Amino acid sequence: MEKKKIGFELLIYENESELSQNDRKLLHDAAAAREKAYAPYSKFKVGAAVLLENGEVVIGNNQENASYPSGLCAERVAIFHAGAKYPGVAVKAIAICASSSKQEVDVPAAPCGNCRQSIIEYEQKQKSPISLLLSSETGPIYKCKSTADILPMAFNSSFLGDS
Ligand code: THU
Repeated sequence: MEKKKIGFELLIYENESELSQNDRKLLHDAAAAREKAYAPYSKFKVGAAVLLENGEVVIGNNQENASYPSGLCAERVAIFHAGAKYPGVAVKAIAICASSSKQEVDVPAAPCGNCRQSIIEYEQKQKSPISLLLSSETGPIYKCKSTADILPMAFNSSFLGDS
């Protein structure tokens, strides 16, 4: 029997003044997108900004539905938007931020499992990591170098035997 510990490096910034100018800008783009979220049911607004290798930024926000499961998270709206608009252009980073009108969000918003899986698909397709910048309204900012770091043992196309 072998025991293996799986871990990853998380960078924690106290506030956005500690970020590079580029990261700060991407976070502001995510915050602007968050304000346009359609979240009448949860009141939890999420914005995501995707930075592409060509320098373009593509945004997304959560889009809810009266039939709850029909809605979609900000991260997937954003990454699918990027895939639709710039197919074949690698994604470098995604900034995410969240707010709620029900309570103060002070813990950085991390993508749900489905969104992690969806983002990892793009990492595998482009063969390079997609870093994540996670923020809240008042709390610290987290950065991780690769989305695969936060979904260890993710499912991927190699299981399907076609690659
Ligand atoms: N949501 C996101 O947009 N991203 C996440 O990673 C977690 C949750 C949205 C989905 C739904 O509209 C609301 O937040 C509450 O779950």
